[in-house]
Amino acid sequence: MARTVRERPSLADAEGNMSVMEIPGHPHPKPGEVSLEELAALIQDCRKCALCDTRNTIVFGEGNPHARVMFIGEAPGRNEDLGGKPFIGAAGHQLDALLSCAGLTREEIFIANVLKCRPPSNRNPRYEEIQACSPYLREQVRSIWPDVIVCLGNFASQWVLKTEQGVTTLRGQLYQQGHFVVCPTFHPAATIYHRDWQPLLEEDLTRVGEWLKQNPPKEQA
Ligand code: URA
Repeated sequence: MARTVRERPSLADAEGNMSVMEIPGHPHPKPGEVSLEELAALIQDCRKCALCDTRNTIVFGEGNPHARVMFIGEAPGRNEDLGGKPFIGAAGHQLDALLSCAGLTREEIFIANVLKCRPPSNRNPRYEEIQACSPYLREQVRSIWPDVIVCLGNFASQWVLKTEQGVTTLRGQLYQQGHFVVCPTFHPAATIYHRDWQPLLEEDLTRVGEWLKQNPPKEQA
């Protein structure tokens, strides 16, 4: 199993001192300074793209605000749009089963999506929707400031790694993206149609678990 952590150009938007959104009370927020509650309040009536007309609920994301590992999916599906939480449908059950490969529980991690609103009929996110929604995800990353970002599927992997390469090419190794260690991997839902990807997803999450073991939190090191 490859253990290389490849250097990537830094995730400038997520790492710079300049925030990408105007956040009341935080003119120049530093990583970790803006709380997820503050961000959720800014998102709550978002009308920045047409998905606001078809969504039921904005799915902000959920989990540990101080997570060492942040998972990023694509967009809410039907169950998530109705329930307001990420990964609570079939893909969520797949994800729960996979977390143990990295020695993680749902309570330890934070999960968000590239898009906060469901695209009709679960179609692919559109460029303009990703552009409109990106500041929210960047600020979530800056707020949580995880050590590791696990990208589930093409959209999350390409967003984080700033590449047009597909996840099939990208997966199988960890990347250093400025502060973050990034693990691009398949979307759990994809294994329903590509059963042979399941062991590869497990392998990728096992690699994350190994990295976490080898790199304990600073205060414990
Ligand atoms: N698929 C995703 O990418 N995100 C969810 O929240 C649910 C399904």
